[in-house]
Amino acid sequence: MHHQPSPQPQLTDDVIVLRPWRSTDALWLCEVCQDPDIQRWTRVPVPYAMSDATSFIDDLAPTTWRNGTAAHFAVTDAASGRGLGAVGLVAVDRDASCAEIGYYLASFERGRGVATRAVVLIADWALSDLGLDRLEIHVDPRNTPSAAVAERSGFHAEQVLAQGSDPRAERHDTVVFVRVD
Ligand SMILES: CC(C)(COP(=O)(O)OP(=O)(O)OC[C@H]1O[C@@H](n2cnc3c(N)ncnc32)[C@H](O)[C@@H]1OP(=O)(O)O)[C@@H](O)C(=O)NCCC(=O)NCCS
Repeated sequence: MHHQPSPQPQLTDDVIVLRPWRSTDALWLCEVCQDPDIQRWTRVPVPYAMSDATSFIDDLAPTTWRNGTAAHFAVTDAASGRGLGAVGLVAVDRDASCAEIGYYLASFERGRGVATRAVVLIADWALSDLGLDRLEIHVDPRNTPSAAVAERSGFHAEQVLAQGSDPRAERHDTVVFVRVD
């Protein structure tokens, strides 16, 4: 895997800040991940325990940044620093110059454009600073709020993976949204 020697940056649009995860985020991350929509539509562990939050923050996020396979960010409020959710570049493939973006928000932080802001920030950074050429967002067509985030963030539906396998090992269609440089 490609070596990623630089420190993980902080990205902001002055409304939200994407920053590397901190050990002190574990409690709010664990609370956020109790949400049934997050457990249904993302790859977080189910059930989600404090040990899942601490191993994600202290081990998985920094390790995958260092080996260049992922870039996981806490989504926070720029004014207050409050934790709002998560966004990550995952499945980074330097040889193919592509990656996938995943995201979720605390249920009470939805409905005001935070996820769209987070996806735009991480996608712009991945295409410009990291120099990737192609980004994907994989959405179950039943997850209409997520498909709307992908479209508002400048991605377009490229193909449907019919009866693909899913994070929960259930087979169903997946819409692949794409943004290319
Ligand atoms: C998917 C998810 C992150 C979407 O959150 P969201 O808050 O609906 O998305 P956005 O941040 O783009 O906000 C969009 C809403 O804010 C409104 N909005 C207000 N200001 C806005 C702005 N400046 N920009 C964009 N939308 C804005 C939009 O009109 C929209 O409202 P609506 O819900 O009434 O249609 C959230 O539903 C979630 O966490 N789901 C569970 C996890 C999940 O499914 N993750 C994705 C897996 S592929």
